[in-house]
Amino acid sequence: MSAQTSPVAGAFRTAVVPAAGLGTRFLPTTKAVPKELLPVVDTPGIELVAAEAAEAGAQRLLVVASPGKESVAGYFRNDDELEQTLEDRGKHALLAKVRRAPGLLAVDSVYQHDPRGLGHAVAQAGPALADDEQAVAVLLPDDLVLGPDGTDAGVLGRMAQVHAELGGSVLCAFDVPRDQVPAYGVFEVSDTADEDVKQVHGMVEKPAPEDAPSTLAAAGRYLLDRAIFDALERITPGAGGELQLTDAVALLISEGHPVHVVVHRGDRHDLGNPGGFARAFVDFALRDPEYGEGLRRWLTDRLKD
Ligand code: UTP
Repeated sequence: MSAQTSPVAGAFRTAVVPAAGLGTRFLPTTKAVPKELLPVVDTPGIELVAAEAAEAGAQRLLVVASPGKESVAGYFRNDDELEQTLEDRGKHALLAKVRRAPGLLAVDSVYQHDPRGLGHAVAQAGPALADDEQAVAVLLPDDLVLGPDGTDAGVLGRMAQVHAELGGSVLCAFDVPRDQVPAYGVFEVSDTADEDVKQVHGMVEKPAPEDAPSTLAAAGRYLLDRAIFDALERITPGAGGELQLTDAVALLISEGHPVHVVVHRGDRHDLGNPGGFARAFVDFALRDPEYGEGLRRWLTDRLKD
């Protein structure tokens, strides 16, 4: 682990993963399988996100689940019988894979009974925090944040450092081409002494390219001061009756709460829709020691036509 990504002691202990959405873009599969458990090659997206949180110093993953999606948190429980069978058969590499998720960090869950938006999902985590937890991380499991070389990003660790230096809340952004800004929430920012850290003054959802205040697009990583839970109680639902997390962040900014953004110079994948998921799957499979080479040959051949 590089010095840049070292966990900052005490910045946060709990990483909240909202996983109570309907996953409509993955229907009909999500009738039976939560999209968080779909495998990127052989590993569910939620395990990749949990590993990122653990790497940044999180001690606990708090899954916000809907009734019926208990299997998401359940995935992190040890399966003693399976582990014993693999042990007996000498399948040590598989055994290590099976034991990785339960060994990453403690996992708890809270319920969001109706999918009333991301803000509402995050609000359900508030009562599950200990009194001394002043900040909490939120990681959207749809978003895979990768380093420039496609491996571990360390962005959450960097966000924890910025939180330790500047206080308040810290978000994550990607610098996207201007013609792509209509797909994102875009930050209005001013510079700080650090080129990759900006102070946030506001956020515009899906702006037209000519109206966008910057080309810094929000990614699904947040390190939020505990004040967010109070703000979530004071905002009103927006379109579709959903409570938006960004509205609560905007309220905090308007009240003088410091919010900064770390501009992440790496890659990302959106696992929330089949097209983005396919890219992530291919990207990870191309780097897989077992399947990578064969897939590359097959793809090259396929793309000739
Ligand atoms: P999305 O809107 O991208 O996910 O929310 P979704 O609602 O599950 O998917 P679609 O749009 O129907 O295909 C981003 C994240 O926030 C969670 C989702 O589970 C996802 O991880 N979320 C969203 C909640 O936990 N609760 C909500 O009410 C809404």
